[in-house]
Amino acid sequence: MKDIVAIYPGSFDPVTNGHLDLIHRGSKLFDKLIVAIARNLDKGEALFEMEERKEMLEAMTSELDNVSVDIFEGLLVVYCIRQNANAVLRGIRAVSDYEFELQMALMNRKMEPRVETVFMMPAEKYSYLSSRIVREIARLGGPLSGLVPELVEERVRKKIAQKHTYPTATHLL
Ligand code: PNS
Repeated sequence: MKDIVAIYPGSFDPVTNGHLDLIHRGSKLFDKLIVAIARNLDKGEALFEMEERKEMLEAMTSELDNVSVDIFEGLLVVYCIRQNANAVLRGIRAVSDYEFELQMALMNRKMEPRVETVFMMPAEKYSYLSSRIVREIARLGGPLSGLVPELVEERVRKKIAQKHTYPTATHLL
């Protein structure tokens, strides 16, 4: 059987415990897993620069031998073929994710039938977790423990302190 190389694409701004849960699951299933940070997404104000996101992902996945981290630009399917990847890994947390994920998976398959999308579910405790919600809680001074690794929490707090003015809700931390 041929090796399965999978790409796990996303914005990872920042990486959450839900992403890491999926990366661990993916690294057990695939021969090689490339976590690929998409550049130039039209998603409003970003919290971290691309290189910062890569650095954090690398630090959090360093013990996984078959996982690497990269940054890509342009169409995901083009990047997949360049990397000789035959699968895209995406997480589905709840039914609400399904419609958008289905649309993306089918569109990607139409453009590039050699690449299959594989969906995995993160642990239930992460089913309400997203980078967007982490950014919002952080901007409003709320608690992040359990949502992101400690290193990421530190980096988020520093970044927010540089960018924003809400006081930290210390009694909630
Ligand atoms: O973490 P996200 O924001 O849910 O990730 C979305 C991502 C990066 C997977 C998606 O926007 C993407 O694949 N972007 C690359 C550009 C592309 O190929 N667009 C066509 C998708 S059908």
